[in-house]
Amino acid sequence: MASSEQPRIQWLGRWGFVLAATGSAVGLGNIWKFPYITGEYGGGAFVLVYLACIFVVGVPVMMSEIAFGRRGRGSPIDAIRRVVNESGRSSVWSLLGWMAMLCGFLILSFYVVVAGWSFSYLWKMLTGSLVGTSVDDMAAVFGANNANPLNLGFWSTLVTLITMVIVGKGVQEGIEKNVGWMMPGLVIMLLLLIVFGMFSGGFGDAVRFLFSFNADSLSSEGMLAALGHAFFTLSLASGAILTYGSYLPKGASIGRTSISVAIADTAVALMAGLAIFPVIFANGMNPGEGPGLIFMSLPLAFQAMPLGTLFGILFFVMLSMAALTSSISMVEATVSWLCDNKGFSRRSAAWSTGIVLWLISTAAMLSFNVGADWTLAGKTFFDWLDYITSRWMMPLGGLGTVVLAGFVLKTETFRDELGLAPLPYTLWLAMVRYVSPLGILVIFADALGVYTVTLSVHWPWLLGILVLMGITGELVSPRLRKALTTR
Ligand code: PFF
Repeated sequence: MASSEQPRIQWLGRWGFVLAATGSAVGLGNIWKFPYITGEYGGGAFVLVYLACIFVVGVPVMMSEIAFGRRGRGSPIDAIRRVVNESGRSSVWSLLGWMAMLCGFLILSFYVVVAGWSFSYLWKMLTGSLVGTSVDDMAAVFGANNANPLNLGFWSTLVTLITMVIVGKGVQEGIEKNVGWMMPGLVIMLLLLIVFGMFSGGFGDAVRFLFSFNADSLSSEGMLAALGHAFFTLSLASGAILTYGSYLPKGASIGRTSISVAIADTAVALMAGLAIFPVIFANGMNPGEGPGLIFMSLPLAFQAMPLGTLFGILFFVMLSMAALTSSISMVEATVSWLCDNKGFSRRSAAWSTGIVLWLISTAAMLSFNVGADWTLAGKTFFDWLDYITSRWMMPLGGLGTVVLAGFVLKTETFRDELGLAPLPYTLWLAMVRYVSPLGILVIFADALGVYTVTLSVHWPWLLGILVLMGITGELVSPRLRKALTTR
């Protein structure tokens, strides 16, 4: 096996990896981003494509990433290089690791700004400054929070500092201790908001909005957004899951773990939708409000419910914690690479990364005030960071990962590493060889306007055909059959 020379630290408890991966996956993507992009892309049809992308593309990619990490025992760059070398393939493939590392870093530079919003709303809740704010004033409060660069910069800097302190200390202990109570706490808060939403008068509209399939509302752009968001929400192609996988002990089941993380992540996103949209509809707000959606809607719900201030405080505490457990995972790849290759201590790696990150995130933060007019093709710097990473870098990184796992590596490598029974293994192989790459390519081609078939209407058929083709292809493939019988 191609593992590094020195033993690598591993997760402490049996649940260490599951907790850490769930902590990375569940974050602002579920509670802040999922509702607002669902609102922008019209609801139900977007949600369905997103769910398909999670389970058809996301889970196989996640399994491959964890397998790369555990097999190669290193940062994405080192792990991919070791694993491809083991199959006698070129180290050039480690470029995928470089892209992932860069991607995680770029995501973090706008993520800290959003996490800063969460911290600042926590502060507003604590100081009672939102009490009595009406529906009409919520947008103004959000705007005012952003308008002052010193205020916004303070919060995003605070998030950067806390992230780097935790990363500097080593993620294992911090994460394993905290995610275990924070996740259930977040779920309880969301349930409470959902129950409140049921009595708000907007629940029926919310359910209809989220779950009724209206293909007309889905654009090519929306499909690419759904694909990109599936990668974002599962923390894929950005170094996080692969690096966490590199600390995974042998013997833990990669398949089962990936599916549990995907289910937990999806459940939280759907719950967030069910918590937020009733408030939106009951108050006549616009679901396509954009990035401020949860900050304009949830404080209204907290104002109207008994013990609302207390629940509001608890909610923003948990949201901020969920943001932190994701933030720390985004720099883990860079930090691990600096420590393994450049002789940095964890602490110096964290601080050096933090300084560069602070500079970029400050530029991103300025997009909401003094730099609001610095746009290119109508997008601010903040928008560009989000757009490039979610729409392009992550799907492309995912495509590279499945091509590598499905075609480039020797079949035995991942068959051993995944340790699956023949049938699930065949299913995984069919996914990484045909369904995931073709799914990604078809959505890309659609977004680029390569053909004019209305994919948004016909995609369920296409997906069904792809899955069938992939599975039959793998089942009849003699090479694979041989591989399976010589197991
Ligand atoms: N999955 C996180 C969320 O949904 O908030 C975001 C994220 C974490 C993206 C880690 C990428 C990453 F590497």
